Amino acid sequence: MDHPLEKRIKELRSQLHYHNYRYYVLDDPEISDARYDRLLRELEDLETEHPEWITPDSPTQRVGAQPADKFQSVAHSIPMLSLGNGFNFEEVREFDRRIKRFLKDDQEIEYTAEPKMDGLAIELIYEKGVLVQSSTRGDGLMGEEITQNVRTIQSVPLRLLDTKVLPPDRLEVRGEVYIKIKDFQEFNRKREEAGEAPFANPRNAAAGSLRQLDPKITAQRPLHFFAYGLGLVNGRSFFSQWEVLQTLPNWGLPVNSLIRCTPGITQCLDFCKEMETLRHSLPYEIDGVVLKVNSFALQEQLGIKSRSPRWALAYKFQPSQETTLVLNIEVQVGRTGTLTPVAHLKPVLVGGVEVSRATLHNQDELERKDIRIGDTVVVQRAGEVIPEVVKVVTSMRRGEEKPFAMPEKCPVCESPVVRLPGESAHRCSNPNCPAQIKESIRHFASKGAMDIEGLGEKLVDQLVGKGLIRDYGDLYYLSRDTLISLERLAEKSADNLSQALQQSKRTTLGRFLYALGIRHVGEHLSGLLAGHFGSLKALMGVSEEELIAIREVGPQVACSIRTFFDNPRNREVIDKILAAGVGISEEKRSGNRPLAGKTFVLTGRLEGMTREQAKEKIEALGGKTANQISGKVDFLIAGEDSGSKLDKAREFNIKVLSEKEFLQIITVSQ
Ligand code: IVH
Repeated sequence: MDHPLEKRIKELRSQLHYHNYRYYVLDDPEISDARYDRLLRELEDLETEHPEWITPDSPTQRVGAQPADKFQSVAHSIPMLSLGNGFNFEEVREFDRRIKRFLKDDQEIEYTAEPKMDGLAIELIYEKGVLVQSSTRGDGLMGEEITQNVRTIQSVPLRLLDTKVLPPDRLEVRGEVYIKIKDFQEFNRKREEAGEAPFANPRNAAAGSLRQLDPKITAQRPLHFFAYGLGLVNGRSFFSQWEVLQTLPNWGLPVNSLIRCTPGITQCLDFCKEMETLRHSLPYEIDGVVLKVNSFALQEQLGIKSRSPRWALAYKFQPSQETTLVLNIEVQVGRTGTLTPVAHLKPVLVGGVEVSRATLHNQDELERKDIRIGDTVVVQRAGEVIPEVVKVVTSMRRGEEKPFAMPEKCPVCESPVVRLPGESAHRCSNPNCPAQIKESIRHFASKGAMDIEGLGEKLVDQLVGKGLIRDYGDLYYLSRDTLISLERLAEKSADNLSQALQQSKRTTLGRFLYALGIRHVGEHLSGLLAGHFGSLKALMGVSEEELIAIREVGPQVACSIRTFFDNPRNREVIDKILAAGVGISEEKRSGNRPLAGKTFVLTGRLEGMTREQAKEKIEALGGKTANQISGKVDFLIAGEDSGSKLDKAREFNIKVLSEKEFLQIITVSQ
């Protein structure tokens, strides 16, 4: 018999595995993120109390390992092959004809058609449903063992689900690790802010993230996974690729939902056309379509030719590249003072979208590519989304092109520009630079931060330009009259903005932290810190060591947080914001939960809230709920028309609370 706590631990784990599946595989979560976090926190707490019950497949154990010295080589049980390419529809048709010739059969072939994810291939090995190893493709025969890094990818199950179909004894799964375009942009923006070299495209970012020796770093990278095939399998047979693609999700392995099974090559080409249109609106990058003969029996007959299977083909989309002229190179000043060179291009259509600007990232990048004003350059939309300059067409040079150098003075405030040792970014040295101030105010007001609707770019420019505000704290001291006096601001808009400012005063600690714009502290980390420390005061007083002790916080981040709060100027602005009446609802600390260890049963009808809401409240404060009265229950909350549970509670001598008494308890505890 399991100890009751051990039983609860197992229950929590299986709930978390299930909700991960709802989120990552079905893309249809059943519970809120906050609730998921609470379940995870409860499990973390129980495991802290009972480390002897921790198992490697527990959802808390995604980041646990110490940094490695180097990666070990591992052999793949079955080689990871590469794919032959088809660059146009004729080559795709030829692939189909080749197969028919080889099989000496003219019947239409059934193919699966799958978007070709532009990330990198990995293999996952599950033994008895538990993830035991993961590796990169490497040269196809040998790869690098990256298990600890792959474990940090939330969409990779640490344990396979067994609710619908039992997983086989051994299952080798292959698939692609990728980064979503939006996450990639945000990630690069942060790197540039921190003076680090940006990645050229999402694929490189994914590869770089997986090749980190420290899994803590990988854990901070927004990696995702889609499964598309198998290696060695023991204990189950499959008859077709489609069967594989339909089965993997039942085990909790995410598969791209755009996949299709087609009756013949014509339908494959239709799918390719469809994907070529759709690719621009997908959240991730695809660079083609992979066609595979569906039947495994036929695949077997067709076999392999020079490390690519005869039964598969990658149809590659036309690369969207164009040439155009660099009209000028200007620098932009970001929120933390980073100077980013931006090329102004003669507008050109690339893959159907007009491109007129492209980031050149930093001085090093610019020098490496030797981009000069007046150059003819090849531009592409990296992964078809972010415009970038690929290279200069040097044969088009006429000798009049002008090299660009980073300015020595900030183009906005004329303060000296500095480049700190070890950083690739140049920065404006003036913390009061209007460009930095404007950016930090825009960030403060943005959706994920204080969410001040109506405070657009132009308005911020005016407010800062006219000296009406010097930092984001001043926003809360703007009068209606001042707002109306601004150019182009109608009374109605001024009223709306005043209202939005008022509304933003009620916020959460996570949002507030994010809004402060501390370097390296993004939305996710802000939420995490809020949950951990519970109050702004606690966080402001924390030491670097305490910060580093938190999962996901490295020395660089810890230093940045400490430096921010040590700066008297920042403290002043925070005080100003609080004095204006900004109220931060403090998230509860994970270790300090007033109802921890108490179990509640609810019965009867409640007046002021639903039972679900009452349960959420109890759980938020660390308590538990049960359905039945037993000796382990501490309180019965009895609403209207309470029935047999009330009698039973009296039998067990359990304290009975009215709804009013319950409300009192939770109000005091909050
Ligand atoms: S199948 C023999 N399916 O494309 C089968 N590959 O050279 C080999 N890729 O880097 C792979 N999406 O990671 C397959 N749906 C998909 C794919 C896919 C992307 C990548 C793969 C590898 C390259 C193939």
